[in-house]
Amino acid sequence: MKKTLVLILIFGMIILYACKHAIVNPIDPGTGGGTGGGVTPPGTAEVCFESDILPIFRSSCAKSGCHNAATAQEGYVFDSYANIMKKDIKPGNAAGSKVYRVLVEEDEDDRMPRAPYPRLLPAQITLIKDWINQGAKNTAGCATSACDTTVFTYTSVKKIVDANCINCHSGATPSGGLNYSTHAGLKAVADNGRLAGAVTHSPGYTPMPMGNPKLQECQITVIKKWIQSGAPNN
Ligand code: HEC
Repeated sequence: MKKTLVLILIFGMIILYACKHAIVNPIDPGTGGGTGGGVTPPGTAEVCFESDILPIFRSSCAKSGCHNAATAQEGYVFDSYANIMKKDIKPGNAAGSKVYRVLVEEDEDDRMPRAPYPRLLPAQITLIKDWINQGAKNTAGCATSACDTTVFTYTSVKKIVDANCINCHSGATPSGGLNYSTHAGLKAVADNGRLAGAVTHSPGYTPMPMGNPKLQECQITVIKKWIQSGAPNN
């Protein structure tokens, strides 16, 4: 009798163990709990979709005439997680994802964004690569990329501008003739009031980022504080 009980117990434990593992794996096949990406070096910080990736897609790809909902060139719409994931992103495999490959395409006629828009910044391309290799997850509200209103240096402002504005405001034909790839370029609109006017959507200014949602309040505060402190190059 005792023997049978012990046997039943052991048998039960084996079933439990097997079930647990059968459940865990199929839920997350692409990411394999962080090891499936393979290509991302260990120790690479987890990329946050909401704050690091979505602004790049929105400001560089989801433009009128390109891949916003109205134009949807070749069926691509890069304005939300659901739409971005619809085509040619293979979670865990950046090299096998066409959406990544066009960013590093050497042929000037085939690369994205297309000329006259500049290529994405090397740091932005790396972020997208790491994000896909980490499983192309819909991560939001991430602590690592939280905006901090006590740090209002050019470095912190530049980070916001690079993510949300630089693709239009750089290159050979920058939008509005305004180029923000240098400190001098950004300081000019900081000093004449147009930067604050545009990001706060004040009357008399064209609301920025053009065609995209307003920046987060915290990001606007960082920009305003930097302007008020004299827009230094720090
Ligand atoms: C999709 C392209 C695009 C993006 C993204 C974009 N801009 Fe612009 N921006 C433009 C164009 C086009 C103009 C010129 C239109 C005008 O002056 O009416 C412009 C004009 C401006 C102006 C002058 C506005 C005025 O009324 O004088 C400022 C300042 C500006 N942008 C800042 C920004 C900032 C800051 C961001 C990011 C937070 C940004 N832009 C993102 C396309 C863009």
